[in-house]
Amino acid sequence: TGIITLDPGYKNTGSCESAITYLDGEKGILRYRGYKIEDLAEKADFLEVAYLLIFGELPTKEQLNKFHNDIKEHLEVDEDIKKIVDSFPRTAHPMGVLSSLTSALTAFNPSVVDINSEEDMYNAVVKIMGKFPVLAAWTLRRRNSKPYDYGDSELGYVENILCLMFKKPNEKYKINPKVVDALDKLLILHADHEQNCSTSTVRIVGSSHAGLFASLSAGVSALWGPLHGGANQAVIEMLESIKQDGGDTAKYMEKAKDKEDPFRLMGFGHRVYKNFDPRAKIIKKSADDVLADLGVNDPVLTIAKSLEKQALEDDYFVKRKLYPNVDFYSGIIYRALGIPTEMFTVMFALGRLPGWIAQWREMRLKQEPIGRPRQIYVGENQREFVSLDKR
Ligand code: CMC
Repeated sequence: TGIITLDPGYKNTGSCESAITYLDGEKGILRYRGYKIEDLAEKADFLEVAYLLIFGELPTKEQLNKFHNDIKEHLEVDEDIKKIVDSFPRTAHPMGVLSSLTSALTAFNPSVVDINSEEDMYNAVVKIMGKFPVLAAWTLRRRNSKPYDYGDSELGYVENILCLMFKKPNEKYKINPKVVDALDKLLILHADHEQNCSTSTVRIVGSSHAGLFASLSAGVSALWGPLHGGANQAVIEMLESIKQDGGDTAKYMEKAKDKEDPFRLMGFGHRVYKNFDPRAKIIKKSADDVLADLGVNDPVLTIAKSLEKQALEDDYFVKRKLYPNVDFYSGIIYRALGIPTEMFTVMFALGRLPGWIAQWREMRLKQEPIGRPRQIYVGENQREFVSLDKR
């Protein structure tokens, strides 16, 4: 129409119609393809949820078995990828490495997905669902100077993620079902969240008809930031530093409220949830259960609970409808499961992968136009060029 409406951060802009995830921020409702997140977290496993998100329906037993077997067929990456992993400094953040490796997959798998071919799409899905956890785990193996490994093909999808990360050479990886259950639940809770920053990134990159792996790599980069997926690492680091500073949570509440101070209470607030984050409710209970089950006593849990209590009673947080989000307690669980802090956001990426794929596929199937927002120009008017020797 020629009229441009300014909406920084797209706070009130709907970018697409979607049939994947329903979210009501006022009522704290989250559903994948119509199924309540509470039911899925309790009753389904991560691979079922991945299938549901991507293909629209819960799989039958046969479909699920085939999906898992096909994924297992595609675990292996090109040998040269190992050289790329080896060329990163050991100190590199795993999210940067994962984004680069996902992008590198494009170079080793150059065939373009024909979006109208179900077979093509299915093959691309099982390929990335297989290889992404391998690459994710290898970012940790590189950090720890451990040999690269494909895990154990006898294991379930989530079990193998743990095996890929922690298996020792020439030793069978011992599965702890409690750890697997907890991780399964966390991955389900992170699997999709409608048009968040990384998902919008995946859709917008894909809208130029860039390939699936290239779009996913951009999603990993978007997720990395501390205002988005990086919050889970930032929360634990914040809780740790409060603990080291004597555990005075009230002092940090004041800092979070001080507009002169850039400090924010990490793990609090959400663009859409203005009542509570239903994922946080499930996770808080899960954190209590996991720590009890594994016999872990983590002092930062006490600090987290004290911060939450103070925030929920504080005018500043109440007025702005700031509640704990999914990542306020997730780091405490990851830590109890033995996952190193710098891998927390990678775990989020492993969970979000099916959501990104589902959204990319939906966007392409609906033949959405290229994502191309407008702007309001506020720079200089036309001016005369001044040659270099006169400046
Ligand atoms: N601590 C202190 N003040 C906050 C916080 C916080 N965590 N979050 C928001 N505010 C204040 C903010 O300063 C602003 O105040 P005022 O109106 O006086 O200027 C008001 O609340 C609204 O905040 P906003 O930044 O305009 O809200 P947003 O929708 O742009 O940002 C957010 C949402 C999640 C980025 C933000 O709440 C935040 O930075 N939280 C901390 C980081 C975090 O936990 N991120 C994970 C999000 S959930 C996982 C995921 O899906 O990515």
